[in-house]
Amino acid sequence: MKLTKAKRDQYRKLAKQQGYRSRAAFKLLQLNKSYKIIKKSDKVVEFGCAPGGWIQVVSQIVGQSGFVLGLDLKEISPLAGTRFIKGSIDDPQLTHILLETIGSGDKFDVVLSDMSPNVSGIWEIDHERQISLTKYALNVSTKVLERGGNAVYKIFQGASTKTFVSEFSEHFALVKLSKPPASRQESSELYLVCLSFKE
Ligand SMILES: C[S@@+](CC[C@H](N)C(=O)[O-])C[C@H]1O[C@@H](n2cnc3c(N)ncnc32)[C@H](O)[C@@H]1O
Repeated sequence: MKLTKAKRDQYRKLAKQQGYRSRAAFKLLQLNKSYKIIKKSDKVVEFGCAPGGWIQVVSQIVGQSGFVLGLDLKEISPLAGTRFIKGSIDDPQLTHILLETIGSGDKFDVVLSDMSPNVSGIWEIDHERQISLTKYALNVSTKVLERGGNAVYKIFQGASTKTFVSEFSEHFALVKLSKPPASRQESSELYLVCLSFKE
């Protein structure tokens, strides 16, 4: 068995043992351990949340005093103490819907985006599709994120990675590219960890 497959199986097994819906949960746990992105009582929204592994992790961190909202094209089985919206990141009404859902004139402390397009297998196309989803995520973030808030965006590594990092740096005080150990080495995914939203 190849090492990468062994690692994938190890996280799948761990997810099952610990009651997480996806092994993706470990990527967020590892990112949060390194960068302290989410804290107790935070209000958090995740774009591309199905089946809900990250939402489970967020929910444990923020506790009952926090607020957790997930968005996805696909329905998810309900998770106690969290909210869910079935919809798309490119819905022109999304900003309005998110702000209405959180209510009281509030904004989010943290935005997470783990979106992946339906992969075609043609790398350039998949890369561009994923980047386009993340651009929508950044655009919505600038309207729903509290000043000083944090964010994480999955990106597929490729030609536009560099420009992308500088684009995000205009909005956040600190932007780091990270590949958590739970992310498969053979996958081109990377995470942009963005701290302290400036506007
Ligand atoms: C890798 S999965 C997310 C896994 C999730 N973070 C977890 O921990 O379980 C990527 C998700 O992005 C969603 N997605 C793709 N395009 C989207 C769009 N336009 N709007 C919202 N979600 C989208 C997919 O439906 C899919 O569920």
